Amino acid sequence: MEDICKNWSMWLKKTRFSYMSEAQVEQTLNWLNVIKEQVLALAQIKENEKIADFGCGSGLLGFGVLEKFKDKVEIIFSDKFEDCLEECKKILSEIKTENNAKFLQSDILDIKLPDNYLDCAMTRSVLVHVTDKKRAFNELYRVIKQDGRYCAFEPIISQNTRYYELLLPDQISDYFEFKKAEKEFMENKNDSLVNFDAYSLDNDLNEAGFGDVKVEVQVAASKYIPSKEAILSWFLAPPSPNTKNMKQRFLDYFDEKKVDNFILEVQNALSDKEIKISSNTALIKAVKC
Ligand SMILES: C[S@@+](CC[C@H](N)C(=O)[O-])C[C@H]1O[C@@H](n2cnc3c(N)ncnc32)[C@H](O)[C@@H]1O
Repeated sequence: MEDICKNWSMWLKKTRFSYMSEAQVEQTLNWLNVIKEQVLALAQIKENEKIADFGCGSGLLGFGVLEKFKDKVEIIFSDKFEDCLEECKKILSEIKTENNAKFLQSDILDIKLPDNYLDCAMTRSVLVHVTDKKRAFNELYRVIKQDGRYCAFEPIISQNTRYYELLLPDQISDYFEFKKAEKEFMENKNDSLVNFDAYSLDNDLNEAGFGDVKVEVQVAASKYIPSKEAILSWFLAPPSPNTKNMKQRFLDYFDEKKVDNFILEVQNALSDKEIKISSNTALIKAVKC
């Protein structure tokens, strides 16, 4: 797995789709398209505005803006990592559309733009990789103009179904030890992936100075039948480059033999059976009042 997850552009292109069937890849791409449209609808972009897609990755939102407005807006593709900007430049050169696109390598915690520059800032699944969300909101507030908007989509991973909720104590040796470990690392305040929920996002945005804050939670309940391989990928696929996967998180508590046995027991308990999971996401809009 590590060899296909050296950086963000590789993660976006390959790792997040690993172990997925063609149908699942298509489903995920359709879902991303829906999210893009939802964020763009919230953003209410108009001609001549200055827009930025922060943590743009391969440019899901930025290219959505370009598709609709071409050179009628200034669109800034911004990411902390150069490989992502290179990927966006390559895509832009291939689609050959009229544009007023700019590229900015910048950490969302220290945005290299002047105060009051943007009409609209957007992010998708970026805050989830930033531990200090308050500081990111302070920076977004600084670079957005008066009455400008911040629009985003974030997965609320801390609220998603946990393994122990899918399993029964008699299916897993040391079920209660594994439940305790999972609860602990899924509530770790220093882990960017899980240290927030809709309430804390709302609170942090208001504290940064934003008004008209709306954090709309969407709960998607789904049923599916995972294969043994898919279950293995839950443990091995890293949630981002250089981040511990689930197996490594359990290894902080137990030795490898015990974790491998746990994974095997989870596979035996859940593979080829229908499971119900819930995934929580938030659509966010805030205005610099
Ligand atoms: C899950 S990807 C999402 C990419 C893109 N927004 C999309 O919707 O497909 C997370 C992105 O956040 C970027 N990122 C992570 N930490 C960042 C930070 N501190 N500042 C700016 N970008 C960051 C990564 O480089 C990556 O492109």
